[in-house]
Amino acid sequence: MAKSEVILGDCMEYMRTLPDNAFDLAIVDPPYYTQDQMRHEMRGGYMRGKMGSKPCVDYHMELWHQDKPGKEYFDELRRVSRNQIIWGGNHFAAEIGADSMCWIVWDKERPATVTWSQAELAYTSFVKPAAVKLFRYKWNGAQQGPKGSVRETRIHPTQKPVALYEWILTNFAKPGDRILDTHLGSGSSRIAADKLGFDFVGIEIDPTYYEQEEARFREYLEQKAEQARQAEQPAPEPSEKPRQARKTRMPKRLPVSPGYERLKINIW
Ligand SMILES: C[S@@+](CC[C@H](N)C(=O)[O-])C[C@H]1O[C@@H](n2cnc3c(N)ncnc32)[C@H](O)[C@@H]1O
Repeated sequence: MAKSEVILGDCMEYMRTLPDNAFDLAIVDPPYYTQDQMRHEMRGGYMRGKMGSKPCVDYHMELWHQDKPGKEYFDELRRVSRNQIIWGGNHFAAEIGADSMCWIVWDKERPATVTWSQAELAYTSFVKPAAVKLFRYKWNGAQQGPKGSVRETRIHPTQKPVALYEWILTNFAKPGDRILDTHLGSGSSRIAADKLGFDFVGIEIDPTYYEQEEARFREYLEQKAEQARQAEQPAPEPSEKPRQARKTRMPKRLPVSPGYERLKINIW
């Protein structure tokens, strides 16, 4: 079973305790607004517009008070991990200070009329034959993923889908890799890592998000255990009376319209 650990605290402090290359892959999603940019957006009412009529203060303002990390964070991230995938990499060009041979685009399949971004970009340290990899997954309010997908409960304002992290791990991680997420948020990356059997460490600085993520992960584990129990249920005894086949009602034949008859004749 894969190991999964979450630390409530500052990722910089945690990373300072690590030896070089402690992780194989870091998949991170740091806040990319400076407080000045945030205040500017708030003054313009932009954030209020994004949140609908609800004032943003109700919507976990702590996140918007966190400053974007500087170069020191990215240097430390590179020291403790062999490879990095950095969401919002386009906002950190100066701090990352390196070209990428492979960007990731997540197309959220949102109409052009929405205020929120239609896609997100991630920097990767990988060299892949295709310089840009595209993942298409609808993420637009209540609309999530392809038709018939199971809806995820949203517990965090910048929550990413578990399916996105599953896709990343499938395409960029090797079996046995240790995964780090320095900015855990809702814990989608943690669930994806567990599903695919990767050892994982996540850090979250905000106690409210931490509690909510822990509750979400517990719920996920309970569902996983329940599914395993159901899969282990013995098959029904052969002596058991076979269920009577349900009578299927044949639909009444609709009267064939003269037009249809004509059409058949024309075709043949
Ligand atoms: C953009 S959100 C991540 C969202 C996440 N990818 C998801 O799918 O839910 C950034 C998160 O990092 C946390 N954070 C900010 N600064 C941090 C730090 N220095 N150490 C650890 N966590 C931090 C914030 O509280 C927030 O929950």
